[in-house]
Amino acid sequence: VRTVLETSMAGRAARQGQVRYEVVDIRDFSVDKHRTVDDTAYGGGAGMIMMAPPVVEAVEACRGREDATVILTSPQGETFDEDLTLELLADLEEKRELILVCGHYKGIDERARELVVTRELSVGDYVLSGGELPALVVTDAIVRRLEGVLHNEESAANDSFTARRDGGLDCEWFTKPPVYRGLEVPEVLLSGHHAKIEAWRNERAAGRTRQRRPDLVPDERDGDEPAGD
Ligand SMILES: C[S@@+](CC[C@H](N)C(=O)[O-])C[C@H]1O[C@@H](n2cnc3c(N)ncnc32)[C@H](O)[C@@H]1O
Repeated sequence: VRTVLETSMAGRAARQGQVRYEVVDIRDFSVDKHRTVDDTAYGGGAGMIMMAPPVVEAVEACRGREDATVILTSPQGETFDEDLTLELLADLEEKRELILVCGHYKGIDERARELVVTRELSVGDYVLSGGELPALVVTDAIVRRLEGVLHNEESAANDSFTARRDGGLDCEWFTKPPVYRGLEVPEVLLSGHHAKIEAWRNERAAGRTRQRRPDLVPDERDGDEPAGD
């Protein structure tokens, strides 16, 4: 986790002093010499459960304010998306802290969730072994949107799912060389005509959205007929 937080945009944000990451080992809050944080499930069944005391106490130890948002990574949470990214970005900017709890094994004792978790986020309908990767996904998505983190913020403004793309997908992009293995860059992109290029990109983005993610086309989201080509 620490290594990932030191690289790319997450690392850049920290080096620029815009964020500070604190990685807390829940085992430090275990009360036995083996640093145990899990036990068998009441009622039986396969799989271990993370005990409530170390989870709750780890959160309380790093929580700077009572009303801090404490996110439990869980396949049962709200699915993380662009809207949630912006909501949590605003939350981070306002409260100056955001806590992500990483589960393991079968998950955490339900009482820990009740006592300290304020919301649950999923990164998709599949099950991972632990919450570290989801926590890093959420962190990266939020931190890269902090002002001054990206080299060129304009480049993120028209990424997939942004308001500029009407919540749809981005268009395709090309760089040098102009011809590679017989494949040419679309002529309009070499024209230098900015208005035409912009119109072409918007059209391609809308077309891709219709083709690949019809669920993101505004008319379809509203339950109406899809927009024609
Ligand atoms: C093996 S999973 C537990 C799955 C849980 N028993 C269930 O079926 O809902 C262990 C941990 O990985 C994390 N995790 C797994 N899949 C995830 C997902 N899709 N989104 C977010 N976190 C996930 C959570 O922190 C979870 O507590």
